[in-house]
Amino acid sequence: MSPSSPYPWSSSGGGRAAPASAVQERPQPQRHPEALRGRVVIVTGGATGLGRAVALEFAQGGCGVAFNYVELPGREVGPQALLTETAIKACGVPCYSALCDVREMDLVEHFVTEVRNKLGGIHYLVNNAGVTHDGALWRLTPEAWSEVMDTNVGGAFNCIHAVAPHMRAQRFGKIVNVASHQAFRPGFGIANYAASKAALIGLTKAAAVDLGSAGINVNAVAPGFVKTELLTQLPREVLERAEHESVLGRVAEPEDVSRVILFLCSEAARHITGQVIIVDGGLTLA
Ligand SMILES: NC(=O)c1ccc[n+]([C@@H]2O[C@H](COP(=O)([O-])OP(=O)(O)OC[C@H]3O[C@@H](n4cnc5c(N)ncnc54)[C@H](O)[C@@H]3O)[C@@H](O)[C@H]2O)c1
Repeated sequence: MSPSSPYPWSSSGGGRAAPASAVQERPQPQRHPEALRGRVVIVTGGATGLGRAVALEFAQGGCGVAFNYVELPGREVGPQALLTETAIKACGVPCYSALCDVREMDLVEHFVTEVRNKLGGIHYLVNNAGVTHDGALWRLTPEAWSEVMDTNVGGAFNCIHAVAPHMRAQRFGKIVNVASHQAFRPGFGIANYAASKAALIGLTKAAAVDLGSAGINVNAVAPGFVKTELLTQLPREVLERAEHESVLGRVAEPEDVSRVILFLCSEAARHITGQVIIVDGGLTLA
């Protein structure tokens, strides 16, 4: 491969056919074509599930990782955070993790300051922290409504608000919000969750407009069902129906989504902003 070529498969022969005797050069696997090395990502809710997969995806590319989390009822998030931190550090990159509730703007600002001090900057933000609190609409309490809206949309707003000055100053930044296919096709009993994810998509587009002139891309992914602990809270028949209804006949592994997030943070996606990529195996087509 020509050293000047960004493409592992391109020939250096100016378009001429290679001699018949030449050994065909096979493309080398290049999962992370441009350097994430030396850069820093913040992944909210990065201790578990999809957030952990995203954190590891960036770490494997050489990117420093900061993540935050809160304890959740019936879940051992703290110990999971330690495991995630260990796995990230095993990739040879720095990691900073902390308990930080994204609903609290002052805590988020403190977290962002700590990330800058400890890891030296912020280049990517993945707003992954999210909760559910399901119930038939007529039984949803104001608390259940606020908890989900404040975390899923308010938390993302707080984090974008906190990183925006730094990203604007460096005229570089990639932000990806984790929405859901339920924003487009809600199931029963998730009025708060569906509304929060639809609002998150609205926030994605508005933030893309406000931050675009500073060289910051803001996009969203809308996963279908993903195999994480969150999914174990759903009735088994919901999952079986999802598998059956998905065009691809499967439920996503966390990596099916984290790789799309990585793509949206890459140079290959530099001209994409304000968009939502639905990663649902065709569930919303059914
Ligand atoms: N699993 C799925 O099927 C699925 C499908 C579509 C979208 N999503 C979205 O993906 C994201 C991750 O979900 P998951 O399946 O990995 O669930 P999860 O419960 O394993 O992860 C959620 C994480 O968010 C953190 N968190 C919750 N509230 C927080 C707060 N106030 N401040 C900081 N951190 C907080 C938790 O500590 C946890 O680590 C969520 O936004 C979810 O809505 C999941």
